[in-house]
Amino acid sequence: MNITLNGHTCWAKPGETILDVSRREGVNIPTLCHMSDFSPTGSCRLCTVEVENAGSLVPACAYPVHEGMEVRTNSPRVRRARKTIIELLIANHPQDCLFCVRSGNCELQKLTQEYGVRTHRYEGERRRARIDIASPAIERDPEKCILCGRCVRVCHEVQHVGAIDFVHRGFKSAVAPALERSLNTVPCVDCGQCVVNCPVGALTEKSNQKPVWEAINDPERFVVVQVAPAVRVALGEEFGAEPGTVVTGKTVAALRRLGFDRVFDTNFSADLTIIEEANELLGRLKNEGVTPMLTSCSPGWVKFIEHYYPDLLGNLSSCKSPHEMQGALLKSYYAQKIGVDPSRMYVVSVMPCTAKKYEAQRPELGGAYADVDAVITTRELARMIRVAGIDFFKLPNEGFDDPLGESTGAGAIFGAAGGVMEAALRTAHFYLTGSDMKSLTFAPIRGLDGVKQADVRIGDFTLKVAAVSGLKNIKSLLDDMRDGTSPFHFIEVMACPGGCVNGGGQPLPTTPEKVRLRTESIYQIDRESPRRCSHRNESVQKLYAEFLGEPNGHTAHELLHTHYVARDEF
Ligand code: FES
Repeated sequence: MNITLNGHTCWAKPGETILDVSRREGVNIPTLCHMSDFSPTGSCRLCTVEVENAGSLVPACAYPVHEGMEVRTNSPRVRRARKTIIELLIANHPQDCLFCVRSGNCELQKLTQEYGVRTHRYEGERRRARIDIASPAIERDPEKCILCGRCVRVCHEVQHVGAIDFVHRGFKSAVAPALERSLNTVPCVDCGQCVVNCPVGALTEKSNQKPVWEAINDPERFVVVQVAPAVRVALGEEFGAEPGTVVTGKTVAALRRLGFDRVFDTNFSADLTIIEEANELLGRLKNEGVTPMLTSCSPGWVKFIEHYYPDLLGNLSSCKSPHEMQGALLKSYYAQKIGVDPSRMYVVSVMPCTAKKYEAQRPELGGAYADVDAVITTRELARMIRVAGIDFFKLPNEGFDDPLGESTGAGAIFGAAGGVMEAALRTAHFYLTGSDMKSLTFAPIRGLDGVKQADVRIGDFTLKVAAVSGLKNIKSLLDDMRDGTSPFHFIEVMACPGGCVNGGGQPLPTTPEKVRLRTESIYQIDRESPRRCSHRNESVQKLYAEFLGEPNGHTAHELLHTHYVARDEF
């Protein structure tokens, strides 16, 4: 069919909305509540456009096109309506942009500037609410919420968690956990997908910048930092680089200039995780242990299964996540090696994830000392770099410290959904056959699909595997496991859709295209690595020879493995 858009004729398909056609035609219509791939709610009305003969303004995100329709997206009436909507939104908003962490990267602030809103046109009663700071991972400021509902939809429809929802009616409407409790007293999994989808500063990560600065400035502390695989393909965006730009060397240089005593690579312990996990898997298969084995690197996923499928905790790999393994080794093996008292050591993890903040304070992850003392997100690291006045792109490229800085391509791909599985298969193949695979790429488990499956022939064994990202996608597989009908031996699960590249701590705004580009760069790092299998990491081999003994042996179990708890309590 044909429609007229701002006086130009263009084609459209039945079922498309005005917004679909406009975006294809390169006509920008502002949105706040709209989410691609979700049915429209039409709640914010910011996408208002004028349709000839429709009799009124209509929301472009929800209004279907029809033959001969005449649409105006930029008439004086449309601009006036949008400006009024923005003025009404800010009338019920604290307008504390001076202090807001999203200032400069806030969709409402940007619209206010674009539409020339310069005064408080509507003043009246404002909704008041307390900031929820009790969660170790996520802060919630209900006064900043504009009720677009994006957080609610992602929590319900993408993650199937439903920790937050709309409560009350009319002026008292709010987004909150049940009974308006704190996020840490409901079964929220801390994945931070609500933060990623919040257009304003109503949902943010719980900042750990202050304790990290304090540790750096404390001469008694030996402060060590590690960097997760997905950070290096996203941090550059914070300084204006194209999404997916690989900034590993500059990240290391920046961390040194911030004052960290050592800078290590979590990719090292991702390799170590693979050695432990592949051995655990093969042990389970040989000894008829509990299968399918489920990966345990994603703390949001671990919290999900603890809350919702505690009867399946025996299927979870007992491996700690890579940064926790690294923390445990830093405070034992490395502290011993360099003669530093582990009580003086302060371990910071730079992660793409908000759930890692919650994970780091789990009592079972550590002995006399917590494995990891503080987690900061990619966004928080960018803020620290800015505060320190470091010109990021003028930094040289520097390498990680040794020996916990060496890594392979297998460690790098942990940052992409399917990567842990692929890395584990490379090493499982070596353990079962004594040789590396001819092709190290497993195409069926790459990409951004929520569920990917493959049959992998290793020697005379066919391993049935799946890689799942986005928590709603794991439910049917877990239900099959409950029924005893699961065909799989090994399942990778990542809480965030697309894996860590799309974690709750990554630069904002995140778009599907940015996630795709970050993912591509993760695989580029793998392709360009001189070694691409975890069992080829010489520093990992040396670690076992010098300190850990056998994979899955006594010391390895003590330091690198953990246990889980059924969470009736939060
Ligand atoms: Fe269309 Fe909100 S974006 S109504």
